Amino acid sequence: MDNFIYQNPTRLIFGEGQVKEQLAEQLKPFGQNVLLVYGGGSIKRNGIYDEVTGILNEGGFNVTEQSGVDPNPRLSTVHKGVELCRENNIDVLLAVGGGSVIDCTKAIAAGAKYGGDAWDLVTKKAVPESALPFGTILTLAATGSEMNAGSVITNWETQEKYGWGSPHTFPQFSILDPANTLSVPKDHTIYGIVDMMSHVLEQYFHQQTNTPLQEKMCEAVLNTVIEAGPDLVQNLDDVKLRETILYSGTIALNGSLQMGTRGDWASHNIEHAVSAVYDIPHAGGLAILFPQWLRHHLDLGERKLVQLAVNVWGVDPEGKSNFEVAEEGIQRLERFWSELGAPSRLADYDIDDSKVEVMADKAMANGPFGNFNSLEKEDVIAILRAAL
Ligand code: NZQ
Ligand code: ZN
Repeated sequence: MDNFIYQNPTRLIFGEGQVKEQLAEQLKPFGQNVLLVYGGGSIKRNGIYDEVTGILNEGGFNVTEQSGVDPNPRLSTVHKGVELCRENNIDVLLAVGGGSVIDCTKAIAAGAKYGGDAWDLVTKKAVPESALPFGTILTLAATGSEMNAGSVITNWETQEKYGWGSPHTFPQFSILDPANTLSVPKDHTIYGIVDMMSHVLEQYFHQQTNTPLQEKMCEAVLNTVIEAGPDLVQNLDDVKLRETILYSGTIALNGSLQMGTRGDWASHNIEHAVSAVYDIPHAGGLAILFPQWLRHHLDLGERKLVQLAVNVWGVDPEGKSNFEVAEEGIQRLERFWSELGAPSRLADYDIDDSKVEVMADKAMANGPFGNFNSLEKEDVIAILRAAL
């Protein structure tokens, strides 16, 4: 494995009742002026908004609100949030929602401390030197944004969607109560499961050697999600299954699986290009693209694909070639996601071949990408075409 330094500064507070128990105390050290960031209103319908604002009012905090963060959060919302921080002398931000709300909060927090346009930070034209502190209350198990420094922001004017991050954009604390995810509808529960599995798969495919524990940890997370996921989709109000999936989503992308390795992340890059053009849900795109990325790497990824098929999907290798075992593993993944209810073709989102070139160009914006295998434009086109 590669040399590494691991530091994750986010305080993770997990379990039922922890918002009431912890929120005021966790926020207090950062100041009184709070920017409360949330999405399109789910937290008003499920009661989380009332609970949080009740706690903030009782604690004597001055609250300014930035509502209406869209899924695939927009640069325009980041700009509004930055303005609000400046106008209201904000000390600390509180994100209440899913990955989109948290990612937007990260960009506002860093943007508020940066003199120029926050888009410079997203496009890496500038490096954040600081950020306002922020905490999160996660309401949807999926991205891992609650315990990592990453953020994905879309500029709709230019149809560009990029991931970025900085040591300054780790949440100070994140409160995860599985009960707060009970109201997540079936489709977003499915997307969340696909997203966290994709995060593990991205990290499973790397070129570092002597990584047996990293590989077994990845397989353990996948096996856990494969066991609990279908049950959860059938029993959305089961808080114990919500708990398992919520914790899995955090572990899948808080850095603990990729110590000493460099995950691939090409499928995510291609998906970001697709959702920048078509505004589809992130994990809907991954469910379609990831199996095709795997298939594109049947030769190069043979050892890992066979290991994945046997250790995760329980494929019996007896009497089969490596190629057959690998392909069976990919088919099991495809079947698992489509039986959950995820899409499997770009056509499911009415995406045809008319913008394949456009999407490939957007994916290539920063040159060849992928750490397991560096993809050129023709690879991206082949993967997109196979996904049509
Ligand atoms: O906006 P509201 O009304 O809150 O509704 C949301 C939204 O419509 C709803 N929702 C959230 N919690 C709910 C709920 N509905 C009912 N009950 C609840 N408790 O769910 C919808 C989707 O929310 P969103 O935050 O968009 O989903 P997700 O957490 O999957 O985040 C997706 C975004 O994260 C980025 C994606 O690209 C996408 O923009 N990613 C961020 C990553 C990171 N920061 O590390 C990594 C990921 O790979 C991903 O790229
Ligand atoms: Zn993802």
